[in-house]
Amino acid sequence: MSLIRQHLIDPDICIRCNTCEETCPRQAVTHNDDNYVVDAAICRYCMDCISPCPTGAIDNWRMVSAPYTIEQQFGWDELPEERLIVTGENDGEAAGEAVEDEAAQILELAHRAEGGKAVPPFSAAHPYVNVYTRDNPLVATVTGNVRITGDGASADIHHIILDLGAAAFPVLEGQSIGIRPPGTDERGKAHRLRLYSVSSPRDGERPNHNNLALTVKRVVYERDGRPCEGVASGYLCGLRRGDTLKVTGPFGNTFLMPNHDQANIIMICTGTGAAPFRAMTERRRRRNPGAAGSLMLLFGARTPDELPYFGPLMKLPDSLIDRELVFSRLEGKPKEYVQDRMRARSADIARLLASEHTFVFVCGLKGMEQGVDEAFSAICEENDLDWPALSAAMRRNGRYHIETY
Ligand code: FAD
Ligand code: A2P
Repeated sequence: MSLIRQHLIDPDICIRCNTCEETCPRQAVTHNDDNYVVDAAICRYCMDCISPCPTGAIDNWRMVSAPYTIEQQFGWDELPEERLIVTGENDGEAAGEAVEDEAAQILELAHRAEGGKAVPPFSAAHPYVNVYTRDNPLVATVTGNVRITGDGASADIHHIILDLGAAAFPVLEGQSIGIRPPGTDERGKAHRLRLYSVSSPRDGERPNHNNLALTVKRVVYERDGRPCEGVASGYLCGLRRGDTLKVTGPFGNTFLMPNHDQANIIMICTGTGAAPFRAMTERRRRRNPGAAGSLMLLFGARTPDELPYFGPLMKLPDSLIDRELVFSRLEGKPKEYVQDRMRARSADIARLLASEHTFVFVCGLKGMEQGVDEAFSAICEENDLDWPALSAAMRRNGRYHIETY
């Protein structure tokens, strides 16, 4: 009997962010209202979808004699047990036969190939992922939940501190945790997982207390003319001191802080995208404030009132961090985005880009990705650097990271 290795997506930890479907060059990934799935007849194991997936849900494989059909996968709440499927009566059998010979060779090539593979900074610590799962979550206790946007701000952003009790939860700056809100959705299915970046450093919000912080924006939208709020963000922002909640993860194995002394870190964010950068900045402040490498933060918000951690950020010493707080809706001032300020700091950014110790992290609004890339391109053009070559090399070397949502 010949076998194929089938590529599958774990519905339990998939956050339905569409990244895999967008990334797949062959349109092998598709979805319905329930699940994202991979069509075995189309997938050629190029692995392009693997590293952009925020949870690792995409990185699942089963040895099967006949592949699971996409209809079967649409019906799953969790992955089937690892076992051999020997039924010959599903629609996928022919597809399985068509790909099986090729599969072993392609897989071998894919594992050797560099293309599409995101890597962490070389000096990042080893990340642990998926230590706590839906069946084995960590029960955390809320010890603080405060609004950190101004009274007049439209954005309701909360700083939430979770005590982890006696449990080991090994988290690194840049990683996220998973929250599954209690209850069920309109169809009676358990709510799906949402990710939240950890905004405290690895040794906790308060050093050596087993806790961590999150930075959560209450999502609001209108439905049939009525105001509604996001299920998970509303749940988190509404928690009170003493409440318990189930946490999974950690997640993320490439968007990680470089640890070496010379590392220059350029952090570009909007809104809650600041969360991982608060963690990285605090790590540097606690462990190595006099590091040879520099920190540069470009942070965009509508106004100072809408910018999370505005007060604490202003108090950080200039020797620790080069801050650019950029506002788009200041009365009497033209709209400015982070990418505009990047251009204004062209010479400094070019100097940093010229160093192989420089790492770029972009986090927050998906919409800023393109503007940031264009700004880097313009900066390079102005300063005799080749952005296409440089950005490709930085990605290959784990020096350019994007996490947008
Ligand atoms: P949902 O209930 O999922 O709603 C989301 C949107 O869907 C709504 O705005 C609305 O437009 C639409 N919608 C939902 N239901 C309906 C309906 N019935 N009818 C019409 N429209 C509807 N967020 C943070 O705040 N802080 C973080 O640090 C953070 N980190 C993240 C890290 C990663 C790697 C990723 C991928 C995401 C991160 N997020 C973060 C985003 C977070 O995971 C959630 O996506 C976000 O909080 C919204 O979830 P929700 O359950 O509140 O909203
Ligand atoms: P804007 O005033 O145009 O909304 P938000 O408050 O919605 O979370 O957004 C955070 C900041 O990001 C705001 O200043 C917002 O400006 C800005 N922003 C919106 N779109 C982009 C974009 N494409 N690139 C960079 N910044 C953006």
